[in-house]
Amino acid sequence: MDKLIITGGNRLDGEIRISGAKNAALPILAATLLADSPITICNLPHLHDITTMIELFGRMGVQPVIDEKLSVEIDSSTISSLVAPYELVKTMRASILVLGPMVARFGEAEVALPGGCAIGSRPVDLHIRGLEALGAHIEVENGYIKAKAPEGGLRGGQFFFDIVSVTGTENIMMAAALAKGRSVLKNAAREPEIVDLANCLIQMGAKIEGAGTDTIIIDGVDRLQGTTYTVMPDRIETGTYLVAAAATGGRVKLKDTDPTILEAVLSKLQEAGADIQTGDDWIELNMHGKRPKAVNLRTAPYPAFPTDMQAQFIAMNAVAEGQGTVIETIFENRFMHVLEMQRMGAKIQIEGNTAISSGVALLKAAPVMATDLRASASLVIAALMAEGDTLIDRIYHIDRGYECIEEKMQLLGAKIRRIPG
Ligand code: UD1
Repeated sequence: MDKLIITGGNRLDGEIRISGAKNAALPILAATLLADSPITICNLPHLHDITTMIELFGRMGVQPVIDEKLSVEIDSSTISSLVAPYELVKTMRASILVLGPMVARFGEAEVALPGGCAIGSRPVDLHIRGLEALGAHIEVENGYIKAKAPEGGLRGGQFFFDIVSVTGTENIMMAAALAKGRSVLKNAAREPEIVDLANCLIQMGAKIEGAGTDTIIIDGVDRLQGTTYTVMPDRIETGTYLVAAAATGGRVKLKDTDPTILEAVLSKLQEAGADIQTGDDWIELNMHGKRPKAVNLRTAPYPAFPTDMQAQFIAMNAVAEGQGTVIETIFENRFMHVLEMQRMGAKIQIEGNTAISSGVALLKAAPVMATDLRASASLVIAALMAEGDTLIDRIYHIDRGYECIEEKMQLLGAKIRRIPG
């Protein structure tokens, strides 16, 4: 297993480009199953989760063609199996996103239940109930969700999400795009990645209104066709580099990103003392050498503060001036990174779903372990602020969601290297 070694103490300073969004690319890849002619997807990030999705397609008889710019052309008409097997689904929950498109287009699907996960139980009941609302017949048997469309295909329906779910909204929106008649999704997630998926579906011929609001109306069409679509920038990758620069008192300019989808994060960084300038597709953060001030925040569905940025802010609070409180409301067990940071000398107390940090001037290097994707990124930030060499183990979690993290960090002046294992 690869490890990272980071020598702390350098102030980040430089410019990098932001990759395509993992959480938009995954549902857009799944959406290619709905089209009856090839789709080309551009700006796909080079990440392990994307490779897993492509491998899943391969198992189903769909062979994506990748060009040198990493654009992927997918022709789902060659599909030969409607099963998403456990070995792949267990490594990536987002595999569940193929369920809705497969039932809608091919009338049936079998997708393994994702099972437990490092950040909580994360059930998929909403995906199942949402598809049932469109007429699907679903049984859960031998660890698999077995779904069948009724005679004549899925039909439009109403569904109210009693918990706001991002992939749940995406799955049902994709299925409804090919259902007969109108579907109305209420209390839908409003994340920008949902808007990106909807825009791709609309380009394929879908009739969707209200994506980005809590009510999405979909008028099903008979067929969806191929198109070429460019994935939006990754707002979580953007936020992670901004926080890394802020924690080190540094400066960073991020290109090919979008400041309008990061308002909650940018406003917390300003509160921490960052000077932030933005343009259409860039963000520049400058701390002018200052130590950040600790901030209080509470995670909630978009447009509120994203749970996927919580760990990075805890790392910043660990070295900030004053006390900061972070409340996690989305996932029940998402403070594993705190235990690792405590081993680096961070003063953080956990009380239920709240982490209270009293900033220290400097952390101390220690061997630590990445436990989930965003937790790993937070350990990289903590290591940048630690005296000595921090060894981060199990970084396959980072490779799931951060493209070329060590190259990008090196461009910003971080002392970071990978030890292949
Ligand atoms: C997506 C993101 C993930 C992010 C999360 C919350 C992708 C690929 N992943 O995950 O990075 O952290 O949104 O912003 O886009 N829930 C249920 N039943 C369900 C589904 C979800 O109870 O059927 C609960 C979950 O346990 C959680 C909450 O709903 O407490 C929100 O989860 P959800 O939005 O579904 O997360 P994901 O879509 O899996």
